[in-house]
This record gives sequence, C-alpha cells and structure tokens, in this order.
Amino acid sequence: MEYAVEVESLCYSYPGGDMALQDVSFRLRRGGSLGLLGPNGAGKSTLLLHLNGLLIGTGSVRIMGKRVVKDNLYWVRKKVGMVFQDPEDQLIMPSLWEDVAFGPRNLGLEEDEVKKETLWALQATGLADLAQRSPRSLSFGQKKRAALATALSMRPKILVLDEPTSNLDPRSKRDVVALMKSLKESGTTIIFSTHDVNLVPLLADEVLLLNRGVVAVGKTQEILSERKLLEEQGLEMPLFADLFDELRSDGKYSGPLPFTKEETRKAIRRITDKLNYSI
Ligand SMILES: Nc1ncnc2c1ncn2[C@@H]1O[C@H](COP(=O)(O)OP(=O)(O)OP(=O)(O)O)[C@@H](O)[C@H]1O
Ligand SMILES: [Mg+2]
Repeated sequence: MEYAVEVESLCYSYPGGDMALQDVSFRLRRGGSLGLLGPNGAGKSTLLLHLNGLLIGTGSVRIMGKRVVKDNLYWVRKKVGMVFQDPEDQLIMPSLWEDVAFGPRNLGLEEDEVKKETLWALQATGLADLAQRSPRSLSFGQKKRAALATALSMRPKILVLDEPTSNLDPRSKRDVVALMKSLKESGTTIIFSTHDVNLVPLLADEVLLLNRGVVAVGKTQEILSERKLLEEQGLEMPLFADLFDELRSDGKYSGPLPFTKEETRKAIRRITDKLNYSI
C-alpha cells in the first residue's frame, strides 16, 4: 500500500456543536510530509484526532490501507504517534520518565528495550536531565517537548503533531524542527499543523489548507505562493516569499519565490547582480 494516510469524505460534528469537519478528503504517501494550515477553529486539531481514532467521524480514515475503526485502535495507535496541541492532555504520570516509558511498555517491549527507547526519546527532545521531574513542574515549552517524547518513544511510522513548535524558544524550535527533519529523512511519515507559515517549507512536501472543508491541497511552494487564497483564510505568505512576490509585482524581481534561507540568498543575488552590488 502506497499511502500512509487516506482520508475520504470525512465529516465530524461535536455533540451539540457545528460541523467541525465537512467532507474532508486527502491522501499522503508513505514517507511524505504534510503541513496543515488554517485559521483558529478551522478543524485542524479535530482532523488530526481522527488519524489515530481518538475521534471517529463519518466517511473513512485509512492508515497504511487499514480502515480506522474501534476494533483495530491498538494496531492504529502503534503506527500513529500523536502529539497533542495541549501537552497537559498527554502527561499523566508522576514522573517524566514514566510518561515517556508508558508507550513502549504498553507495546510489551522488554524492560531494557523500554529503557533504551525512553532514554533515546528524552535525549532527542533535550529532556534527559529532567527525567525524574514531575511533568506538572515543567515549563510549558518543556511540556511541549515532553509530549513529543511520549510519542517518539514508540518509534511510530506516522507522526502526527498538533502545533509542535508553539510556545518554544528559538533554540528549542530549531531542535524540534531538526528532529522532525531527521525523522522524515529516516522514512517517518509526518503530518503537522502550525500557525508558523515560515516553518512549513522546511518540513512539508505538501500543504493542506483547511477551513472545515479542504480549501486547497498541493505542493507546498504552490499553495504558499497563492497570496489571495491564503489571505482569504486569514493566513499569510511566508515572509520572504511575500516580499519577493511584492517585488515581482513592482517589476523589480523576476525569479522564483524563495521559501528557505538559501533560496532567499539566491533571490537577493539575482537582484544585486543586476545592480552590480555584492552581498
Ligand atoms: N470538545 C469540543 N466540543 C465542542 N466543540 C469543539 C470541541 N473542540 C473543538 N470544537 C469546535 O470545533 C471547531 C474546530 O476546532 P479545532 O480545535 O479542531 O480547530 P483548530 O483548527 O485546531 O483551531 P486552533 O488553531 O485554535 O487550534 C471549532 O469551532 C471549535 O470551537
Ligand atoms: Mg488546534
């Protein structure tokens, strides 16, 4: 099966609430990465909670070809690691170590394997020194990384992260992005939601613009070049793409829009070369 995730005609209403998801369909191939963008209340968290069966709507969700239904939630949760938007929903044990060890223990690993995976996940998130602390005593940014560690310790094939870098300081953010990149390079399928549009091109091959229904889905650079579409959803283009798009409209630039630092450097060079400046 080529696809890690297939969502088809998914609808969901919270009890007594509006329809939070309306006819959502998309697919993500194995090893792919998808950034989920949309304004507050767009249904991002609701959609992500369907990917490991924490919510089950109408329509269908398939993980590696298998339909997510009540009967196979144990299998699904072994494949799909979930990092909640609010880390406090995920940290329940008396110590951070116990929280991170919970998943591998639940998988039935031998105790020395449990130790190995727990330590790896704590080190990968920069939290090894805090292992014996009560999760309640951690700062919010530390809790965010701890929630990530609890998913990582199970070495999921598919990692679902709901706003993984919100509230992180610049270094922690860089570390989490680097970690997500290296997981992606080693074949993990990644789906994440974020309000940080500058982060998306670093991590996502594809973008899904959600506002209860799918507004657009496609290659990251294509979607993030659509100024009007993004602005209609209350979103914005990444900083440098935005700037160079304006320069292009003013006739001062004619190259491709830059989405990374390296691409931005090249774009600036295209302009300065013409002017005979050097940077
Ligand atoms: N537990 C709940 N009970 C009732 N309605 C809910 C519940 N959780 C979310 N909603 C509603 O469902 C809609 C989608 O919410 P959701 O949390 O999925 O949005 P989101 O895109 O993740 O937003 P944000 O960017 O603020 O995290 C909103 O209208 C929200 O008020
Ligand atoms: Mg949310």
